[in-house]
Amino acid sequence: MAVDSSALKRAAAARALDFVQDGMKLGLGTGTTADAFLDVLAPRVRGGLTVTGAATSERTAIKARTLGIPVAPLEQLAPLDLTVDGADETDRALNLIKGGGGALLREKIVANSSKRMVVVCDGTKLVERLGRFPLPVEVTEFGHAVTARGLAECAGDLGYGHAPITLRLSEGAPYKTDGGNVIYDCAFGPIRNAATLAVTLKAITGVVEHGLFIGLATTLVVAHAPEDIEIVERKSHAEL
Ligand code: 5RP
Repeated sequence: MAVDSSALKRAAAARALDFVQDGMKLGLGTGTTADAFLDVLAPRVRGGLTVTGAATSERTAIKARTLGIPVAPLEQLAPLDLTVDGADETDRALNLIKGGGGALLREKIVANSSKRMVVVCDGTKLVERLGRFPLPVEVTEFGHAVTARGLAECAGDLGYGHAPITLRLSEGAPYKTDGGNVIYDCAFGPIRNAATLAVTLKAITGVVEHGLFIGLATTLVVAHAPEDIEIVERKSHAEL
């Protein structure tokens, strides 16, 4: 029987509520799974739970406010107690690919400002090795085609061959992030050393941020089925 992915997203989001406590300052993620979290959080807020959110995108801020969840600028709230966000891919070490929804820069800033990051997803997002999902890389609009050549060179230098590097479009025009930048989706294939790739991409002039989230997520809530929710906690260095 086909699995209803929205039911799985709702199930993971509902389980993530267990990590929310009264008075918390929350990072609010972007995407359909993060939206599902807002949908389950809102009735709790109406019921008296006091939380304030820092949104990772304009659309999340609008949705949160519409649902009656208070939102304030990150600068006023940081450090945050907890961020709940989705992911495009995660491995069991809680390394992530994010940015499919185009919000990776704000998502990373918010995650970096959080004491804890809970990632909510359905089982299709859990992979042995990152890289099936093309890695989003946010670059400045100015000179973006030149920066893309740098991305291609990086792929060659690190042994990813001629990885397709594609400018993301929206209705025929370059997709623009909330920060006014553009995104290249980089189909590197299986990523052998995420840390090396992350450092190399970040060093390219014109690259604003990439969608590799390493060492940021602390907990993974993955719904394999509506009644089969797996919790994976990131191991400390001592346990590795
Ligand atoms: C947005 C993201 C999202 O978390 C990611 O794309 C997953 O989205 P969804 O929950 O809709 O599958 O990184 O930039």
